[in-house]
Amino acid sequence: MLDLFAEDEPWQETLAPGAVILRRFARQDGATLMAALNDVAAQSPFRHMVTPGGYTMSVAMTNCGSLGWTTNTRGYLYAPVDPQTGQPWPAMPAPFQRLCEAASQAAGYPDFVPDACLINRYQPGAKLSLHQDKDEPNLAAPIVSVSLGLPAVFQFGGATRSAPLQRVLLEHGDVVVWGGPSRLFYHGIQPLKPGEHPLTGGFRYNLTFRAAGYYE
Ligand code: SIN
Ligand code: FE2
Repeated sequence: MLDLFAEDEPWQETLAPGAVILRRFARQDGATLMAALNDVAAQSPFRHMVTPGGYTMSVAMTNCGSLGWTTNTRGYLYAPVDPQTGQPWPAMPAPFQRLCEAASQAAGYPDFVPDACLINRYQPGAKLSLHQDKDEPNLAAPIVSVSLGLPAVFQFGGATRSAPLQRVLLEHGDVVVWGGPSRLFYHGIQPLKPGEHPLTGGFRYNLTFRAAGYYE
């Protein structure tokens, strides 16, 4: 029987002007992406960064690409070297690049070229409080966010912290892209519920692709 709404066929949902969810977009690449992610983490391990205010983040993070998002006592920054290893961040794996390119294209940002990918790892209870992604100098470039493994509730608000929040469940393979009018919209992740996923075990992973360098 022809199933027009087969669960494994990607579909799109508009979240806000300039923001779209590409449902299941990365699902068929899940195993390849996780293998590449594990390679990155073998070189630059996951760590719980400490905010300038002295708070240890519940989400564990690492990066790949020519720049990586990190913290120090003065603030948040993009750095070419992993402060923990003293080595450059691992190169962005080809499967990451391919997926980001396809997702950007599908979401209406065909010119997006990322130079940084922040990798978040959530264990049960880990969360990301409401924030803006505003450490990037080029706000013309979107954010491309890929969810892998356990599901989590994503909050997406507006230009101010007090704007009403949409709450959407992001599942394995979902990709969210936000840019243009919603590039600086507040967003966050509610505490992860315990579970078991065949590819990621007890974790959720999230890749966010960013253009973090200065440009001409
Ligand atoms: C982020 O805001 O950087 C990550 C969001 C997510 O984990 O889905
Ligand atoms: Fe963010």
